[in-house]
This record gives sequence, structure tokens and C-alpha cells, in this order.
Amino acid sequence: MDVLLSRASTDRLADPAPSAAQLEQILAAALRAPDHGRLRPWRYIVIEGEARPLFAQKVVDSMLRLDPQTPEFNLTKRRTRFATMPMTIALGMHLRVGHKIPLWEQEMAVAAGAMNILNALHALGFGGIWVSGPVTQDPVLATELGLAAPHRLAGFIFVGTPDNPHPAPARPDPAAFSARWQGAPVTFSADKD
Ligand SMILES: Cc1cc2nc3c(=O)[nH]c(=O)nc-3n(C[C@H](O)[C@H](O)[C@H](O)COP(=O)(O)O)c2cc1C
Repeated sequence: MDVLLSRASTDRLADPAPSAAQLEQILAAALRAPDHGRLRPWRYIVIEGEARPLFAQKVVDSMLRLDPQTPEFNLTKRRTRFATMPMTIALGMHLRVGHKIPLWEQEMAVAAGAMNILNALHALGFGGIWVSGPVTQDPVLATELGLAAPHRLAGFIFVGTPDNPHPAPARPDPAAFSARWQGAPVTFSADKD
């Protein structure tokens, strides 16, 4: 419970990234996510080392494809992030369109896998953050990673060692987000703002 309750996302990440053996454990944890119909929609594409600037260029190309007017500042920021993060795990969704298991359930299984990755990283002393942005929806970028349509990206997890562990952010009170149903519709104090 201490591991689960102390996890926080961070993008302030330095070397080292997980070793090959640690990554295997982390991905094994990912594949323990619930998955209706055993469709196994998780696909993880690991980008590290020399592949990082190559992929950073693909991300910049994607940004310009989606919006040719993207300011240079934004392009440089994104390029630097993808080129310098110790490791990026692209979250692929291998989707079965028209299957009796609806797409949203397949996507949920991928999300559950991503959460297990974040928790496994933290349990091993690493840090990470799940990021997305418009490029996540670019079918060309997904294809360049090996996810041709109908398969898609669910985002990216930046991975590394937290460079300067800072206090975990304050979290909301679970009582505001839960209720006991006793026959009538419930309300949540989280909704009263
Ligand atoms: C699907 C998804 C996409 C996200 N995309 C981004 C993003 O592009 N940029 C960002 O700063 N945070 C993004 N976040 C939020 C962070 O991953 C993270 O949850 C947030 O910084 C809060 O940190 P916490 O996990 O410690 O609560 C995304 C989260 C999810 C679930």
C-alpha cells in the first residue's frame, strides 16, 4: 500500500532508465492488467538510446503535419523532451474493430496496463509520466511505430529516475469520490463546487 499511495507522476527524469531485466518485470506487471475476452490489446514500443532523436524527429514531423503553423518554440520543446527522456514507452492499442468486446473495453484494458507500468516503475525506484497530445491521434505517427490502423496510440510514458524527489502532491479525500448506494441515486461531494 505504501508504494501505491506514494506514487506520483514526474517528468523530471534522469538516467538511469530501467535495465533490460527490470523492464521485463515492468512489462510483465503491465500484462497483469484486466482484459475482457483475453484480447491482449497491449503493445509496448520502447524507445531509448540512439532511437530517441530519430523518434523525436517523427514527433516533430507529426506536429507539423497536424498543424503546419506550430510555433518553433513548441517544436523545439517537444523534440528536446522526446530526444532526452531516458526512455519512452509508446502505449499501443491493438484494437479489434467489430469484435463483441467493444472498443472502449479494449481501450480500458490498455489504460489499466499503463497504470500498472506507472506503479511498477515506482515500486522499483523509477519515475514516469503518461503524456499524450494531438500527435497521439496521428495515424501516420502510429504507423511509423508499427501500429497501422485500426490500431492506435494511447500516449507515451516517459521513464527514468526522478532527478530530485520532491514531496508527493496532496491528493483528494476518497470520501468525496465514493458513496454507498442504498436504493436511491448517490451524490458525491466532489461534484459540489
Ligand atoms: C490518457 C492521459 C493522457 C495524459 N496526457 C498528459 C499530457 O500530455 N501532458 C501532461 O502533462 N500530463 C498528461 N497526463 C496527466 C499525467 O499523466 C499525470 O496524471 C498528471 O500529471 C497528474 O499526476 P499524478 O499521476 O501524480 O496524479 C495524462 C494522463 C492520462 C491518463
